[in-house]
Amino acid sequence: MCRFYFVSAFAFLLVFGAVFGKISRRLPADGPLFKEKPPWLKVCKRSDPNLGKCLNDMFVDMFPELAKGIPEANISPFEPLYLDTVSVSKGAGPITLAGSFINLTVVGPSNATPTFTNLDIANKKMYSGIFLPLLDIKARYNLKGNILVLPLVGHGSCDLKLYKVDTKVHSNLSFPKIDGREILQIDHMNVNFKVGGMRVHLRDLFNGNEVLGQTLNNFLNQNSNEIITDLSESIGKSLGEILKELMNEIFSKIPTDLWLRVEDENDDTEKENSEKTNT
Ligand SMILES: *[C@@H]1O[C@H](CO)[C@@H](O)[C@H](O)[C@H]1NC(C)=O
Ligand SMILES: *[C@@H]1O[C@H](CO)[C@@H](O)[C@H](O)[C@H]1NC(C)=O
Repeated sequence: MCRFYFVSAFAFLLVFGAVFGKISRRLPADGPLFKEKPPWLKVCKRSDPNLGKCLNDMFVDMFPELAKGIPEANISPFEPLYLDTVSVSKGAGPITLAGSFINLTVVGPSNATPTFTNLDIANKKMYSGIFLPLLDIKARYNLKGNILVLPLVGHGSCDLKLYKVDTKVHSNLSFPKIDGREILQIDHMNVNFKVGGMRVHLRDLFNGNEVLGQTLNNFLNQNSNEIITDLSESIGKSLGEILKELMNEIFSKIPTDLWLRVEDENDDTEKENSEKTNT
């Protein structure tokens, strides 16, 4: 079964994905809801004046678990992240591209750092940031198009490195119920990002013509800022789709009563405290 993927992958995906339209990742079937709080899940209170800080710490603790995978929730590891296909389709502008990347291996999502988190429950909005120092991607590619002034055509293996991927994400939320328990659901994500640098190496371009291939690779690397800028809108869209699926993968399995508590509800700490006082 092929579903959309998940989290930290995102930065990488951003770039590739951005360019490109559709991404698929092989995932296991939907997992069950967590009945009890997993040990790595930090609990926050809705009334906490520093709720954003608490939630950001929650993400800091959660990301390494996602990287390792969470078997009890049927979440497969994100480090390395494997993607079957990233389809590419951009028909207008200085860069046009059509084709796909296949069998992608992405190393780096486990180093994702949540930089800030603001949750506005009343207005069902979240504003957050994630920083990825490096996304190191290896894949097969099959592409045809034009990059600024040069044509690009070829298929073979490729390496792509993205440095310092800094994202800012606006999310629209809803709070549906599963089995009578409320979950947080991300309905839409708008992703803005900056990339500090990019290195690309496409092998066997132009049917293996070394001279043309070298020329194009040099050109791609020399113009990486311009290329990323031209692709940023489509990348941001793909990234939003990817991240949304990723975050929903985990949040659909942890009811809010486990991590976003209403005062006194299931508050073990306070219960324990009051039991001690009563005896
Ligand atoms: C992708 O990986 C699968 C499974 O390892 C393999 O069968 C397939 O040939 C690969 N595709 C390409 C284009 O390398
Ligand atoms: C997200 O929320 C904003 C502000 O309420 C709204 O303008 C926008 O249309 C929403 N986006 C989607 C895709 O629902």
